[in-house]
Amino acid sequence: MRPSSYKAVVHEFAAAIRSGAIPAGTRLPTHRTLARERRIALATATRVYAELAALGLVVGEPGRGTFVRVRSGYDGLEPSRALPVPRVADLSFNQPLAPGQGDQLRQALRTMAASGDVEALLRQHPPGGHRHDRAVLATYLLERGIDTVPDNVLLTSGTQQALDMVLRTLTSPGEVLAVDALSYPGIKLLASTHSLDLAPIPVTAAGPDLDALDRMCRARPVRAIYTIPTMHNPLGWVLDREQRERLATLARSHNCLIIEDGTYAFLEPSPPPPLQALAPERTCYVAGLSKNVAPGLRFAFAVVPDRHLEAATSSLRAAAWGAPGVVTALATSWIIDGTVARLEKDRREDAAARQDIARAALAGLDITAHPVSYTVWLALQPHQRTDHAAAVLAEQGILVSTADAFATGPTVPRALRLALATPPRDVLGAALRSVRDTLDAIPP
Ligand SMILES: Cc1ncc(COP(=O)(O)O)c(C=O)c1O
Repeated sequence: MRPSSYKAVVHEFAAAIRSGAIPAGTRLPTHRTLARERRIALATATRVYAELAALGLVVGEPGRGTFVRVRSGYDGLEPSRALPVPRVADLSFNQPLAPGQGDQLRQALRTMAASGDVEALLRQHPPGGHRHDRAVLATYLLERGIDTVPDNVLLTSGTQQALDMVLRTLTSPGEVLAVDALSYPGIKLLASTHSLDLAPIPVTAAGPDLDALDRMCRARPVRAIYTIPTMHNPLGWVLDREQRERLATLARSHNCLIIEDGTYAFLEPSPPPPLQALAPERTCYVAGLSKNVAPGLRFAFAVVPDRHLEAATSSLRAAAWGAPGVVTALATSWIIDGTVARLEKDRREDAAARQDIARAALAGLDITAHPVSYTVWLALQPHQRTDHAAAVLAEQGILVSTADAFATGPTVPRALRLALATPPRDVLGAALRSVRDTLDAIPP
């Protein structure tokens, strides 16, 4: 048999993986076996797998081998936005995962399997979780400036479920939900599911326009205010103490509920007090482990004021019950043994490094970002159409989000949101430079 050319082997594997002939999860031959079978040098076999890994088709697990990656699963993209070419970089969805987290999971599962009463995880737990697990979260929340008791913490399958539970419990169809004019897209989806009337609060780079919010609350009954005071998605702001106090006072004087989303708050090690601490009687605080640990874990929590606790628990019971026992056991073990704190510290350093890369690659463009956040808001020039820019980038294998996903009102700015967390750090700079070159190439 003639020795195979390196490119031909890559091509053959890539085609077989893309067609499904080699299914996801398959363990591929060892480098040595591949070299022998194809009569290529060992270094060439290693290069074949490196190239397949760079194409996102396989993943190497130290000590275990090379595996075909799962490609069909949801990766933050809606199906209509599937790429026409191999992916170069996903800047549309923040999926921060550090090398070594797979091993961490393997280790934690082994420990769990070896623990005494593993059968307990198969028994039904109370909606919102066992008290001892809720107590772990209450202790964790103290670090974030939230002083609550375990009973007021409800465990959920992701922050999105926590938000759904809060809205289901505390709002009625037709009521007004005040939201920043640019905000997390998931809240739009929920407002529409619950038939709420979204009222956009005008925004500046430093935070919501609180005078405008005050006027809005005087003009119409606002039932609740959804806010992301620390590391706003997409604008990256961290509200200062004065803004938070004003927001809390405003909510009190107009008798509005506050829904505080702390999903990215871990990126700021010492923010001013959360709204939950300033107005605990009317604030539901939601956050989870998607961005600081792993989005696939689907573990989150809500801190709910006493007077809404019973209704919130019933609403969880009526829906998905909360976080599954096995996931809760994993999450709480990682909080207790310090894994979450270590990951959060690493993520802060990672986000800062990625922001440095972004600032260098996008220098001179109109960007809004926090130096330690995972998002960049990139305003386009009048001649650059947002959907066109996103489509041209997609043709090059680069995914971005467009402003319409974040706009909660009728005015959609001409802008892209770049999520920095997902691509490997060594490809991020090149991907961002491609964004810049692509925008530069759009004729006026
Ligand atoms: C501000 C904000 N809240 C909530 C979520 C959803 O988090 P989860 O994955 O825990 O449902 C996200 C996800 O991107 C987010 O950015």
